[in-house]
Amino acid sequence: MRKPIIAGNWKMNKTRDEALQFIYSVVDKLPAKDKLDSIICAPAIILRDLVKRQGDNLRIGAQNMHQNDSGAFTGEISASMLQTTGVEYVIIGHSERRQYYNETDFTVNQKVLKALEKNLKPIVCVGESLQEREENLTNNVLERQVTLALENVSKEDIDNVVIAYEPIWAIGTGKVASSVMANEACEYIRNLIKKLYSDSEAEKIRILYGGSVSTKTIEELMAQPNIDGGLVGGASLDADSFIKLCNEAVENI
Ligand code: PGA
Repeated sequence: MRKPIIAGNWKMNKTRDEALQFIYSVVDKLPAKDKLDSIICAPAIILRDLVKRQGDNLRIGAQNMHQNDSGAFTGEISASMLQTTGVEYVIIGHSERRQYYNETDFTVNQKVLKALEKNLKPIVCVGESLQEREENLTNNVLERQVTLALENVSKEDIDNVVIAYEPIWAIGTGKVASSVMANEACEYIRNLIKKLYSDSEAEKIRILYGGSVSTKTIEELMAQPNIDGGLVGGASLDADSFIKLCNEAVENI
């Protein structure tokens, strides 16, 4: 059985003080780490502060990293730099990065490989636009994005990869994909992993749904057989809401 994940993606929100306040409010109230991986992906500047205070049942992740080890990339952060903060996870290829910062399937793959090399667990985001869904291209998009993101990722390393299916039209819009629709896409991704790796890797890999997940929708999403958790933006910013999401995820898996 796959251990579920609730990963909060704070995006560009929370100052250091606000983030610490949040951490102090949640650390004692999260499910035990053998039941759930509760993760907060925070702005890079506060990662180290959060790692120091994460306690037993919370893990911290970054929201992005550069694919090169070092160099003239003003404003960027390398995987080694992330490593020194003590984070365990890093989101890669979020649709906002693809849309606003020219991330491509190629750079996503480079980042995934670099993260794994540096012992960071990538949460790889994939998902179709509204137009692609309406044109019936969802599976084509998922096949392309997943296959290219995982190019040259070994069978040993795939165990450390998490995939997040995030239909772009559902992110921050309040339009959550129906749980059946979300499950279908996650199942399609799981079958791709079967083709690319093996039955047992497909059984093991954790696939999250993301896009307007809330305390109201988590129960139904978690009840779906191919959804192993959520990548949550807006609803992860409030401590009570995050605690509720984590506890409901464990109850409804
Ligand atoms: P949302 O964001 O939950 O606010 O829709 C999800 C995400 O972008 O990861």
